[in-house]
Amino acid sequence: MIGENSTQFFSGDQTGNPIFEMIYQYWNSAILRTGVKLGLFDLIEQNNFCSAEFIARKLETDLRFTEIYLDCCMALELLTKDGDRYQNSPASSTYLVPSSPAYMGDLVLHITNHWRNFERLEAHLRSGKHESPYENGFIDKDTYWRDYMAGQHARAVSGQAEMLVSNAELHNKRFLIDLGGGMGSYIVPLCQFYPELKAELVDVKEALAQAALYVASSGLSDRIELIEGTIESHTKGVKERYDSALLSGVAVIHSEDRVRELFALAHHILVRGGVLLVQDSFKVGGMPERKLMDTLHEFYLKIAFTEKACNHNSERIVELLREVGFQDIKVRTSTTQLSVIRACK
Ligand SMILES: C[S@@+](CC[C@H](N)C(=O)[O-])C[C@H]1O[C@@H](n2cnc3c(N)ncnc32)[C@H](O)[C@@H]1O
Repeated sequence: MIGENSTQFFSGDQTGNPIFEMIYQYWNSAILRTGVKLGLFDLIEQNNFCSAEFIARKLETDLRFTEIYLDCCMALELLTKDGDRYQNSPASSTYLVPSSPAYMGDLVLHITNHWRNFERLEAHLRSGKHESPYENGFIDKDTYWRDYMAGQHARAVSGQAEMLVSNAELHNKRFLIDLGGGMGSYIVPLCQFYPELKAELVDVKEALAQAALYVASSGLSDRIELIEGTIESHTKGVKERYDSALLSGVAVIHSEDRVRELFALAHHILVRGGVLLVQDSFKVGGMPERKLMDTLHEFYLKIAFTEKACNHNSERIVELLREVGFQDIKVRTSTTQLSVIRACK
């Protein structure tokens, strides 16, 4: 939540009643999503101190509703107002303006693209089945994949990639495979940090469309090969080819049995002494403050990605790694959401 008081709709008698807050929380998300979709924060950043008339004209929105909407943004501390002119709050300037290095508007879109999943929660509960936002008609498939990959990327650039690089310890490694590598958000910084490293990234074609742009813009196309396919198809018949492997954001969308199979597969394709890096949103023992997010996140994954999705326990992940033969396992928990586990063959 951006503003400290932004979810507190009521005071007085109702203070302390959590239901009042919960009822209205979707308003915040909708206001935030709409501002990002309209490009409101970028418009204000570029023109600074904008009137409602100017904003409505540029965004082609109704002036009367726009004025009220902008006041809602102010109440949520997304905007500030001086006289009749609006300005971005520090949080909006930092996180919601695309040119900012900490921009996370794509993550706002990706998460809220699952709006209809939550609208259809009762149907999900009855069917026990997931549905992606392009299957339930909320958005088209191209938009889904663009926002999905760009949203994951936002997390990488906001500190996660730095954390992975600083815990990877790949100094003597030469050949890395990124299994389910998405748009290359981690393989690029790893290759930048380790100039001796060559790498392959395997993912489906929708992810690779974004990866191709990012890898090319990083000037690493000669060191990173993009391979269209599944992890399973690409590694079939492969043994001891790589000295390092990365599984990031993949375990969480698979059942425990499948994760064990993926670890066994990684073990099989690594040379002796090879390193597997597993990065994911594991439940971390001893962090009770994460319980709410862990629980809701797992539910979101199950209704929107796959019924088998699971926020695995980091302790259980370590056990699975040991079971398939990995040793010297180090766990780094993170305040930036994802933990990093490093294991050796
Ligand atoms: C949550 S995203 C993570 C992307 C990237 N690794 C990151 O951490 O930003 C999961 C990715 O894994 C890919 N993926 C999952 N299972 C896969 C499989 N069996 N074969 C290929 N790609 C897979 C998905 O297509 C998606 O791009």
